[in-house]
Amino acid sequence: MTTSLSELDAWGDFDRDDPFPLFAQVRSAGPVHEVTLADGHRAWLVAGYEEARAALSDPRLSKDMHAALAHSGEVVAEGLPGPALARHMLAVDPPDHTRLRRLAMPAFSKGRIDGLEARVRAISDRLLDALERRGGTARPVDLVAGYAFPLPFTVISELLGIPEGDRADLGGWFRALLDPHPGPAGHNTAVAASRQLIAYLGELIELKRRAPGVDLVTDLVVAADRDGALTEQEMASTIFQLVVAGHDTTTSLIGNGTVALLRHPVQRDALVADPSLVPRLVEECLRWDAPVPHSTFRYTTEEVRLGGAVIPAYAQVIVSLAAANRDPARFRDAESFDPDRSDAGHLAFGHGIHHCLGAPLARLEGRIALGALHRSFPAMRLAVDPADLHWNHGDGLVLRGLTELPVLLGP
Ligand code: HEM
Repeated sequence: MTTSLSELDAWGDFDRDDPFPLFAQVRSAGPVHEVTLADGHRAWLVAGYEEARAALSDPRLSKDMHAALAHSGEVVAEGLPGPALARHMLAVDPPDHTRLRRLAMPAFSKGRIDGLEARVRAISDRLLDALERRGGTARPVDLVAGYAFPLPFTVISELLGIPEGDRADLGGWFRALLDPHPGPAGHNTAVAASRQLIAYLGELIELKRRAPGVDLVTDLVVAADRDGALTEQEMASTIFQLVVAGHDTTTSLIGNGTVALLRHPVQRDALVADPSLVPRLVEECLRWDAPVPHSTFRYTTEEVRLGGAVIPAYAQVIVSLAAANRDPARFRDAESFDPDRSDAGHLAFGHGIHHCLGAPLARLEGRIALGALHRSFPAMRLAVDPADLHWNHGDGLVLRGLTELPVLLGP
């Protein structure tokens, strides 16, 4: 299809709090579209499920933005923190991808992740106790700041071996980068945070050299120093990517999942009554409102035919996981939230060689966090009108998470 979204009169001016009607409109017009982004760049949007799966496993679609831009001659303003931290597995192709992914793989094996269950439960219990102390059942509390953010952030920090005393600064820098305040002041704060983060990651690597621990950063330092398995830049980039992928995604799974459950009281009551339903519920939360990332990017290295479209070489391709996950050609009654559905296979964790390395950890955290929260506070409700929830959607393509989720824990 060559229909542009602007022709559909949709892309520039859609409801970013509820992008799903737009996705449905786009999908019904065809699975692949050429689109104009807010900054004027042309790109190709993949909205159909089969086409998204095909794109994610096609070796002609690269993750290496710099290589693609070098060929196309196009200049695209790079987001923060910029090239210094862009040498990680999710930004490169094989063989570098294979090498970098292998180095982190042991830390995310099923056995290692299963071993974290008691620790994740303990973190969840501690945070829930603190929420209750702070809000009681009558005063609103912010579930993002008090639960959905600190739970995965603590888990990934412990896994990487980030000293406890450094985590508040680190969390602040990530917030400034991932969810900047609008305008020049917000931009300047994000630039400063980016510099501090790059400096900090260098210091962390040196710390682990001097005082090794039992953690993933130490493993990376050993692999670099003993085997020359990765460069300093790759090491800093990998730590950066693991912290981002390890918390922002799961924060939005817990936040978006909670909103989904509050909007579906029958399913929520069933979960409260029967904890064995939690795994299926988490899968449906992932499909129905795919957390960050809502879409992911690729670049063609040659001309590619996909879903009836001919995408030229060195073009940007946006694979909308959220649109694919509601494709009626793949999922029965796709717009409905139905944890009992039998048609598994959502793309919230991607597909192909970049399939989410942390999926077992994300599932463990999502199950514990959503299960414990809703069983602890069965009468919990939103403290604001749903229309007043703020989604940190940026351009509406990649991010979909709440900046705040004010709730009352009691009736
Ligand atoms: C890759 C989603 C949690 C680590 C990905 C991709 C997606 C995704 C869609 C593939 C992106 C692409 O192909 O361009 C999610 C979601 C999560 C989550 C929805 C939570 C609900 C985590 C966690 C970690 C993690 C907890 C732990 C550190 C990674 C890594 C990659 C990745 C390392 C890159 C894999 C590669 O390039 O080979 N994730 N993720 N993710 N994710 Fe996750």
